[in-house]
Amino acid sequence: MANEIGAGARLRVVAIDGPVASGKTVIGKAVAERLDWPMLDTGIMYRALTWAAIERGLLPDPTAADPAALVRLAEAVDLSVGHPPAGSPETASIAVDGADATPHLRSKAVEAAVSVVASVPGVRERMVEQQQEMAREGEMVMVGRDIGTVVAQEALVKIYLHASDAVRARRRAEQMRASGRRVTDDEVLNDLRNRDAIDQGRATAPLRRAVGAEDVNTSGDDLETAIERVLAIVRRALCESAAPDGRSA
Ligand code: C5P
Repeated sequence: MANEIGAGARLRVVAIDGPVASGKTVIGKAVAERLDWPMLDTGIMYRALTWAAIERGLLPDPTAADPAALVRLAEAVDLSVGHPPAGSPETASIAVDGADATPHLRSKAVEAAVSVVASVPGVRERMVEQQQEMAREGEMVMVGRDIGTVVAQEALVKIYLHASDAVRARRRAEQMRASGRRVTDDEVLNDLRNRDAIDQGRATAPLRRAVGAEDVNTSGDDLETAIERVLAIVRRALCESAAPDGRSA
């Protein structure tokens, strides 16, 4: 069963959750590099599956999604995560049944439908199973919406990252413009609020701060400061887990 991983010993996992554009991916990547641990951005799995659903005609429009068809797709396909292609802004590549989804992960169509796909319980169950298998392989920084609450409940350290809507919208708009997308600030803010509302309001594994997660509001931080704040929390947790006083993980 997907959630049983939470019952065992502490996992050597840094769990980073938070809403859209809270800095999870960039901060998670920096933390992983400095610890020399692998990183899994679980959002790319939901995005790749959404791309495959669009390609196969299962999502003529996000509001017309057929949950049963999406679950069948999630159960049937093979998602394989690999190294990102040289120069890619992605933290990893991902293929669906051998077809490279990486270039499509941030498309407008995927962006508009991914939270709807991710709100289907059977889809989540399949994704969580695969993520838990990866977490069992060893040390890992995992980034998403439900890492601390579901995927790795026994993570060594849990971080809940957030920032004000205005700061997150500005960061996301800058990222999108840097990758050649033409967007207005209002479009970005609306999309972000929409996705947050679906992610926070869904019945299964809604986005929320996990019990025991450290709350990190990065609204006033530049990137390096935010990375250092998170790293300080992670290093402290790693030191405590290595302490020979019974608190050991
Ligand atoms: O993090 P990112 O924006 O790439 O995630 C895309 C979407 O995938 C989120 O808006 C959310 O709906 C879904 N997601 C999720 N659980 C995760 C990671 C992502 O529901 N662990």
